[in-house]
Amino acid sequence: MTDNGDATPLVQMEGVNKHYGALHVLKDINLTVSRGEVLVVIGPSGGGKSTLCRTINRLETIDGGTIVFDGRELPAEGKALAALRSEVGMVFQSFNLFAHKTIRENVTLGPTRVRKIAKDQADKRAMELLERVGIASQADKYPAQLSGGQQQRVAIARALAMDPKMILFDEPTSALDPEMVQEVLDVMIGLARDGMTMVVVTHEMGFARRAANRVVFMADGQIVEESTPDEFFTNPSTDRAKDFLSKILTH
Ligand SMILES: Nc1ncnc2c1ncn2[C@@H]1O[C@H](COP(=O)(O)OP(=O)(O)OP(=O)(O)O)[C@@H](O)[C@H]1O
Ligand SMILES: [Mg+2]
Repeated sequence: MTDNGDATPLVQMEGVNKHYGALHVLKDINLTVSRGEVLVVIGPSGGGKSTLCRTINRLETIDGGTIVFDGRELPAEGKALAALRSEVGMVFQSFNLFAHKTIRENVTLGPTRVRKIAKDQADKRAMELLERVGIASQADKYPAQLSGGQQQRVAIARALAMDPKMILFDEPTSALDPEMVQEVLDVMIGLARDGMTMVVVTHEMGFARRAANRVVFMADGQIVEESTPDEFFTNPSTDRAKDFLSKILTH
């Protein structure tokens, strides 16, 4: 939870609709994310999970409904949009680090360029964050010299360096070799414990059970179920969710 104990939700989506041409990808989405909450979004491919995430930091526009972030409707452009982007961190499946910058530079770039923080201060903070995700010793290497799991932990440190109000994770472990998945999930579990507001699209059911406050099951652009992880995994209420769970849990 945030230090001021603000009880208003951090994200409020109401009647959100989104089309790609004739394809209706978000259908009347009503969803709130509380401060300090960990919301896991799961569901079949093409269901709209990534699109949902991307609308929250306005990487995608919407064509109906409203999204309120931290008490204000999402800005359309300009400085307010840049500010929003820095308040909502994003971690993707594909790491997206700058290949020609060192790990340390990857983490200091946002703070120095966007937040105008002095270089030595940004550097100090970067080292603290790299320490926190367990890769301080790799600070002067380039992304290609790190494993996938290490690169994803850098991506998390880079998001944290902007002091975001929340972080969106879109399948952060699906591109990783199996032995590297847990080291990334452990960092995410640590963030959840520290009270970071997180929306996490993932098929990692162990993570969902351990760290999620709430699970949202999305299919065909709709929120089909919304419940606690316990309820969802032991007693899903729709056939659609039962079917999905039986497929992923037997893999
Ligand atoms: N930029 C785009 N232009 C057109 N259609 C798109 C675009 N991005 C996504 N779509 C379509 O919108 C639908 C929802 O896609 P989205 O990526 O949000 O699903 P998802 O639930 O994240 O799927 P996955 O589990 O495969 O990542 C899909 O049918 C997809 O093909
Ligand atoms: Mg996706």
